[in-house]
Order: sequence, then structure tokens, then C-alpha cells
Amino acid sequence: MRVGRKGLMHRRRRWGAIALIVAAGLLAWPATVGAEANPMFDPQSGRARAVVDLTWVVLFFVALVFIIAEGLLIFALVRYRHRGEAGEPRQTFGNRRLEITWTAIPIVILIFVFILTVRAMRVIAAPPAGGDALNVTLIGHQWWWEYRYPDLGIVTANELHIPAGKTVHLQLESADVIHDFWVPQLGRKMDVVPGKINSIYVQSDNPGVFDGACAEYCGTQHAWMRIKVIADSPADFDQWVQAQKATGAQPASPDALAGRGIFLSSAGNCASCHTINGTANLANVGPDLTHVGSRTTIGAGVLTNTSDNMARWLTNPQQVKPGNLMPDLRLTPDEVRALTAYLESLK
Ligand code: CUA
Repeated sequence: MRVGRKGLMHRRRRWGAIALIVAAGLLAWPATVGAEANPMFDPQSGRARAVVDLTWVVLFFVALVFIIAEGLLIFALVRYRHRGEAGEPRQTFGNRRLEITWTAIPIVILIFVFILTVRAMRVIAAPPAGGDALNVTLIGHQWWWEYRYPDLGIVTANELHIPAGKTVHLQLESADVIHDFWVPQLGRKMDVVPGKINSIYVQSDNPGVFDGACAEYCGTQHAWMRIKVIADSPADFDQWVQAQKATGAQPASPDALAGRGIFLSSAGNCASCHTINGTANLANVGPDLTHVGSRTTIGAGVLTNTSDNMARWLTNPQQVKPGNLMPDLRLTPDEVRALTAYLESLK
């Protein structure tokens, strides 16, 4: 049989479309499934596992419905395509049995998912046995996270240290707009709403480092409002607590000493926003810097914490993270070097 030029193009286009759909599916697969590609599917505690188990059930039904619906659609498009016949096809009105069936099936599926959801919510929200939890108050800011440990007298930012194996009771507050705290491997996500106090439990059964992010659009740097949770062994956590409680050593090098002078001077302007324990100021606009040298990143994850990057940040924070609330202070290179030495010494 000879295929005309038009028919050949038609076929090519059809195979092109099918190849495109398959390729898109293959590309999306590793991004959505598999613990290596997406840690969301690698829960670290019973609370997080309840979310993931429910996700798999919902994904199963979603996939099933998608395959059946799309399969029927493609079948109908191919099988009943227009073949040049004249006139209207046979018209069908109503089919009670079919209508009852396709109404009943979704109802049954939704009731099943609802029951599983209620069960998962009970696991996620259950207070820990004996009420033994570490209290942390989290305050969302544009665009960083403040963590306060009221029972331990510690304030820190962006990197949340927790003891492995212990439930953490997070109280969530906001200083400005709505944010959303989400570390998928440790528990549920929760909105951080101005004027309202929310609370959730999170936990990691074992030590490890877990990434999270703000999950509610909160302004231009929403994407750079990263969360890093460091679950320490109980001994490491105690050590971290002791280190955080210390007010920090006096600057040793001349550069660091000069840096502290600039930090506290009105010219530096740092102290009008940031706290460093052991100095006189207690401003709370920007992150507490008492132990900034011990953190792994700066700018809520935008840069790894190295001297070069700290200098880059201080030279012009607006270039590194445009729109953030720290202005370009037009520091001279000497001032930047001194401040960098001081801040990096604050372990
Ligand atoms: Cu904070 Cu998005």
C-alpha cells in the first residue's frame, strides 16, 4: 500500500507526539520517585513515615485513575476517529448503570483515603510518650529562620540542631508574612502565620543532616529561605548546647579585634540589627550572630560559610541576595577583612 505524503507526515507527527510524552515521563520519573533523587520518600521517623505511606496510597490511586482515563481517551480517539463518513454518528443519551458505577467508585476511593488520612494525622499529631519533647520556638523572617530554645536559653538561625531520637515540639511564629516550614523527612509541614501560633512535632530517629525549605511564597528571596536540620547524637547535641551557651572567646587576632570594633561602632551599623551575646547589644532584626562561625551556610543557605563567601556577603549583601533586608553598608575592603575575621572566629 502506498502511503501519501500527507499520511506520512501525519504518522510522523503522531509518533513524534508519543515519543515526546514517553521522554517527558522518563525525565520526570527519577525526580518524583526514589529516595536518592528525592529524600521526601526517605522518612526518618514514624511521624514522617505516616505522611509518606499516605502519599504512596494517594499516588497509587492517582496513577490508576490517570492510566484508565487516559487509556480510554486514547482508545476512543484512535478507534472512533473520523474516517470520512458523512453525517452525525449514532447519538446515545444516558446509561444508568454506567453513571452509578462512575459515581460510586470515586466515593469509595475518597472514603478509603479519608480514613487513612485521619489515621495518619493521629500518628503525626500524637504527643510523645511521657510528654518528653524538646521545645523550640521557630520564627519565620523575610528570608531566614530564627530558632529559640526557651528551656536551654539558646538563640540561633537557619540551622536547627536537634537531638536524634527525641521528639521536637516546634512552635511556629512569623515576624512578617506567611512562611511555611517543611522538612519532609522529619514530619509534616506547617504554615508560619503572623499573629498566630502553630505547632507541630518533628523527629529524626537517627543522626543526620536533613534539608528543608520555605514552602509558601513569601517574597523575592522565598527560594533562599532554606532549612537545614542537624540531628545530633545525644552526646553531640549536649556538646553543641554547651558551645552555644558560651558567650564566645575574645577575638584573638588583631584583624578580629578590629572587626569587633567595627561591628559595635555606629559606622559599621551591624549592632543595630544583630545580636552577639557577650556584647552589649540585643537587636533582633537580623540573625543572631553569637556563633555564626559555626554554621555551615550564610544568608539562609545562599552561600557556604567560608571566609571568602563571608567577605563577599559583607561587601554587598544585595548583590548576593537581592532584596534581603541587609543593606549595602559600603564597607571598605579593610573593614570587610576585619569583620570577616571577627565573624568567622565566632565558633
Ligand atoms: Cu518564607 Cu517562602
